[in-house]
Amino acid sequence: MKPGDGVDPGQVPFRTLYTGARMPGVGLGTFGSDHASPAAVGSAVRAAIRAGYRHIDCASVYGNEAEVGAAIREAVRDGVVRREDLWITSKVWNDMHGKRNVMLSCARSLRDLGLDYLDMCLVHWPFPNTHSAGCSVDARSPDARAYLHEEYMETWGAMERLVGMGMTRHAGTSNMTVPKLRLVLRDARIRPACEEMELHPHFQQQELFDFVTASGMVPVGYSPVGSPARPERDRTPDDTVDVEDPVVRRIAAAHGIHPATLCVKWGAQRGHVPIPFTTSLAHGLENLRCVTTPPLSAAEMEAIAGIDRNCRLIKGHVFLWKDGQTWEALWDTDGRITPP
Ligand SMILES: NC(=O)c1ccc[n+]([C@@H]2O[C@H](COP(=O)([O-])OP(=O)(O)OC[C@H]3O[C@@H](n4cnc5c(N)ncnc54)[C@H](OP(=O)(O)O)[C@@H]3O)[C@@H](O)[C@H]2O)c1
Repeated sequence: MKPGDGVDPGQVPFRTLYTGARMPGVGLGTFGSDHASPAAVGSAVRAAIRAGYRHIDCASVYGNEAEVGAAIREAVRDGVVRREDLWITSKVWNDMHGKRNVMLSCARSLRDLGLDYLDMCLVHWPFPNTHSAGCSVDARSPDARAYLHEEYMETWGAMERLVGMGMTRHAGTSNMTVPKLRLVLRDARIRPACEEMELHPHFQQQELFDFVTASGMVPVGYSPVGSPARPERDRTPDDTVDVEDPVVRRIAAAHGIHPATLCVKWGAQRGHVPIPFTTSLAHGLENLRCVTTPPLSAAEMEAIAGIDRNCRLIKGHVFLWKDGQTWEALWDTDGRITPP
């Protein structure tokens, strides 16, 4: 990368958490899925930090925290960035819920990443239901079960201990719903600082978004570009494509940016923290630079608000626990927690 090609991290807006900590307003996703190897994701992180990224969204289940960690440590060692200027998120996978396992999971992520602490540790999903890599949409784990609040709070209690022990500065949730979050907020000693949720123009989740922000949590938006390279198990014929939406294309063209970049720009301006994945330095730069350029107009924001299709892409079929269920059961679509 030539000098001057990067983005000044000081120009990237941030979101302030209830602790006063500042989360950089765009992060780099690291879920390589079945198409980007751990080495490729490590290289992407290396280049992204040099290009000005200060927020990296990791997870133990992505299977690449060692490579991501090597890239982070290299950047710190080479004086590109100080550890305290980075925001590193990781997540506890579904098979590591519970008092003891949460601690083990976070310790393993810290070891793999080569870090002393995380900035954010998330409970990846509210269910302890897991699946094997590359499984089909019909795969179910035999001991899969519904959301059980008492069980979740045991896991959350362990997350609180991680904060107490300094293993992570913040704890957060992911893939939650309003009724589940209501209970967690009622019972938590340390409130979740963010909710990582699917957010893109065709899936705006306005009700959950409003609930999260009103509760003093920061919404972090995953699959912000509409996850064009998501695994086969997460594709259905009814899925819509954000980057092909005529409104997205028109507004992107007016700003001279790719429709994918427009999705990122819209997300950041709307008030969530988009975490687009890319292994392309050019795409990564566009996705970061777009939040430093003049904002979308009120009319453009309104036009994008109007194209919500309620099209969830990461439906989570593999986490269902009963025969005959449809994926909506995971998302409490009737406003109450789906019973066991
Ligand atoms: N908490 C959770 O349960 C959860 C679930 C899903 C995802 N996530 C996190 O969210 C991150 C992002 O989600 P995602 O990976 O599903 O999807 P995404 O970020 O919506 O889409 C990534 C895809 O978009 C392309 N892309 C990105 N920027 C582009 C640009 N400017 N122009 C053209 N194409 C562009 C990338 O291709 P190129 O590489 O060719 O640029 C890549 O294939 C993940 O990596 C992960 O960290 C979290």
